[in-house]
Amino acid sequence: MALAATGIARANLLKARVSGIALQNSSKFSTLRNMAAARKAVLGAIGILGGSAAGLTYALNQSVKASELELHTTKFPWSHDGIFSSLDHASIRRGYEVYKNVCAACHSMKYIAFRNLIGVSHTESEAKAEAEAIQVKDGPNDDGEMFERPGKLSDYFPNPYTNDEAARAANNGALPPDLSYITSARHGGENYIFSLLTGYCDPPAGVSVREGLYYNPYFTGGAIGMAQALYNEVMEYSDGTPATASQMAKDVAVFLKWAAEPEHDQRKKMALKAIMMFSLLFGLSYYVKRHKWSVLKSRKIAYKPSQ
Ligand code: HEC
Repeated sequence: MALAATGIARANLLKARVSGIALQNSSKFSTLRNMAAARKAVLGAIGILGGSAAGLTYALNQSVKASELELHTTKFPWSHDGIFSSLDHASIRRGYEVYKNVCAACHSMKYIAFRNLIGVSHTESEAKAEAEAIQVKDGPNDDGEMFERPGKLSDYFPNPYTNDEAARAANNGALPPDLSYITSARHGGENYIFSLLTGYCDPPAGVSVREGLYYNPYFTGGAIGMAQALYNEVMEYSDGTPATASQMAKDVAVFLKWAAEPEHDQRKKMALKAIMMFSLLFGLSYYVKRHKWSVLKSRKIAYKPSQ
């Protein structure tokens, strides 16, 4: 009895719901044609207002950019640009020499250790020799004293200053940023580094830079606290490459690119492998799919009424 009652109730509910849906549908149909003229006018006005506000915002934003005195970096044809091109490792090695001889006087690279150079730009014994050339504070020893020892492969590149305040004090208040990840931290990456290092010039007429600052159109604002660091023959390369300012800028940019993306070459190698594997698998799975579906795709469903 109870079962029959719920059965009836359910059937009634279903009926009510079905008719409800039908009702809703018929009342919800509305088109632009039968929309009230006033409503159309209001919507149109909102559209026009919104569009002109966006245009005005864009124009105002452009007008305060003062972009004539600032240069955007050019895109240079790096040899590692191609999707399958590795970094130029001879260039990384020269770039390390530039960093060590020039930039390391002011910039730290605290996330790069000497062991990272092994197999990239130096052999193990060469990297060891590089590490041993620096003195590292270690300790305490058995007498509780800190002591200096030659560097080891596991040591990180030394910081030229003991702290940020000392770094600022030595550079007219400007803090030389850590260069470990600089190519990822600036728009343009290695292009920016190259442009910045080679972009020093006299300020244009009417522009003066404060004492202790230098004009560089690639730096935001144009006045940078870093003096031009690279001049022709400011150092010598161990492989005999002529050390022109642009050569050094290019090499140090490649070195910094490697430092920020040490997985660069591996990444591109993996991409090559992945593309090869996936194209093989794609072909195979396409064939298997056609094979498995062939029965279903060629099936014909026919209705044959029984006589
Ligand atoms: C005499 C010290 C000194 C030397 C040498 C030096 N720099 Fe700098 N560098 C600075 C200072 C100071 C700043 C901060 C400038 C500022 O914020 O106005 C800076 C800033 C930078 C920046 C960041 C610019 C930015 O967009 O914020 C980069 C990149 C850079 N240096 C690269 C180098 C490279 C590469 C070398 C070696 C070829 C080098 N520097 C050599 C002092 C130096």
